[in-house]
Amino acid sequence: MTPEKKNQRKLAKYLANLGHGSRADVERMLASGLVTRSDGSRLDDSDHIEHEDILVDGKPLDPRQGAVLMLHKPVGYVSSTTDETNPTVYDLLPPRLRHRSPIVAPAGRLDVDTSGLLILTDDGDLNHRITSPRKHLPRTYEVKLHSDLQGDEIALFASGTMTLKGDDTVLAPALLEIINARHARVIITEGRYHQVRRMFAVAGNHVESLHRIAIGNLTLGDLSSGEWQVLTAEEIQRLWRRDGTSQES
Ligand code: URA
Repeated sequence: MTPEKKNQRKLAKYLANLGHGSRADVERMLASGLVTRSDGSRLDDSDHIEHEDILVDGKPLDPRQGAVLMLHKPVGYVSSTTDETNPTVYDLLPPRLRHRSPIVAPAGRLDVDTSGLLILTDDGDLNHRITSPRKHLPRTYEVKLHSDLQGDEIALFASGTMTLKGDDTVLAPALLEIINARHARVIITEGRYHQVRRMFAVAGNHVESLHRIAIGNLTLGDLSSGEWQVLTAEEIQRLWRRDGTSQES
C-alpha cells in the first residue's frame, strides 16, 4: 500500500467514525475531492491534519470525539434522542451527533418545560461523574413561582429531612435564596425526577418557570436560547471548581 493510500484510509476511518457514512462512502468522498483543507485544497494524501483544518463539502467538521458541549435548552425540547410529540435537543445540534457511536448524550436531563444549561458528551466517564449523586455536583436554578414565598421554605429545603411525595429517602440539603416574593434561586446536589418542581409542591407552591443557570461553577454566560458551544478544558474544569479550586470531590 502506498503512503498515500494508507493516509487516505486513516482519514476515511476518522470521518466514518464522525458519522459521515461508511468507510467506503468516505473513501468515495475523498476520491471525488469533497474533503479539503480550509484553504480549499483537496485532502487525500496528508498524514497530520488537524480536525479544525478539515472541511467536508466546504463545511467544518462536527465537534471531535470526546468533546463536551454546552447547550442552552429552550422550553419545549426533550432531553432524549426521540419523542413522539416534541422536538428533541438533538434537533438543535448537528444531525450526525445523534448517530455517532458512542452517541453524544445529555449528562442528566432537563424537563421539557425547563430551560437552561445542558451538557452533552460522548465521554461516558465524564457523563457519569456529572450525573453521579455521589459527586454532589451543585446545579443552580432560577425559579418563578405561582404564589408568594413564605420564608420558611429556606429552612425546609436546608433541613436534610425533606421527603418528596412518592420517594422514600430524604433529600440532601438544598440552598434557597429568595430574590423577591415569587422569584428564587435554588441550588440542589441531586438530580431526582422533577426535583425542584416537587420540592416547591411539598412547600405548597407551584413552579411557573424553571431555568438552570449553572452546573458547578460553569454558567450559561451569554449563550442564547437554542445555541450550543464546545467547552474548553478550562470551562470543563469550572464544573468542579469550588471556592476557587478545581478539585473534584
Ligand atoms: N428539577 C425539575 O423539576 N426539573 C428539571 O428539569 C430539573 C430540576
